[in-house]
Amino acid sequence: MTLLQINIPEPINTLPVCNMSSQVIQVANQRIEDHITSAQPVIHNFVQCDFQLFAQTLSWIIENYLLSGMRFCELGSGFGVATLLASIRGMESIGIEIEPTLVEQSRKLAERLNINSRFFCGSFIPRDITNIDNLSVEVEHVATHEDDIYEEIGLQADDFDLFFAFPWPGEYHFFEAIFESAAADGACLLTYRGRDGMNLVRKT
Ligand SMILES: C[S@@+](CC[C@H](N)C(=O)[O-])C[C@H]1O[C@@H](n2cnc3c(N)ncnc32)[C@H](O)[C@@H]1O
Repeated sequence: MTLLQINIPEPINTLPVCNMSSQVIQVANQRIEDHITSAQPVIHNFVQCDFQLFAQTLSWIIENYLLSGMRFCELGSGFGVATLLASIRGMESIGIEIEPTLVEQSRKLAERLNINSRFFCGSFIPRDITNIDNLSVEVEHVATHEDDIYEEIGLQADDFDLFFAFPWPGEYHFFEAIFESAAADGACLLTYRGRDGMNLVRKT
């Protein structure tokens, strides 16, 4: 199995974003700001991605028929905004997040916006990843333990057509290794890479 790079065209950030996605982003940004400025303990591994760029890239992926199905999973979903945006594009969307506070926030946000995404608290790393101890060396911003969360979800990692993650710099390889090991042939992994924008690969 290898990962095939899919080039995302440069002007992706000029694509229009639908009104509903813009509203989700606006409400979510306000909630995140309120949460960060409140007395909550800081969650050091949480940083939000560029939600507008995510919405634009997802539209491009869907409109170019790059997916083999419409099941979406956000690995480390934070406030769950990408998961919500995938739901309003018609995907069956799941967010997996290790921090209970963030899972609670994402569920509240989904309820406020009346979007039927589902959020689960646990580690997105499935059981029986080969070589997990070696893969985890020098990975500092991801909880690297395996979990049974996919049983709770009622779907396995190889049931999803598109995964999304925002890895910290230098930890992209970890997400790609988990994806390569657990996803179905033909599934795609989209990662947000800060200044370098979005990166898309397909398992072939
Ligand atoms: C950089 S944040 C990205 C949040 C969200 N995806 C976004 O783009 O706005 C990474 C998130 O992954 C979560 N996380 C780290 N390890 C995890 C694991 N093994 N399973 C689930 N979530 C994890 C962190 O708590 C954090 O909220």
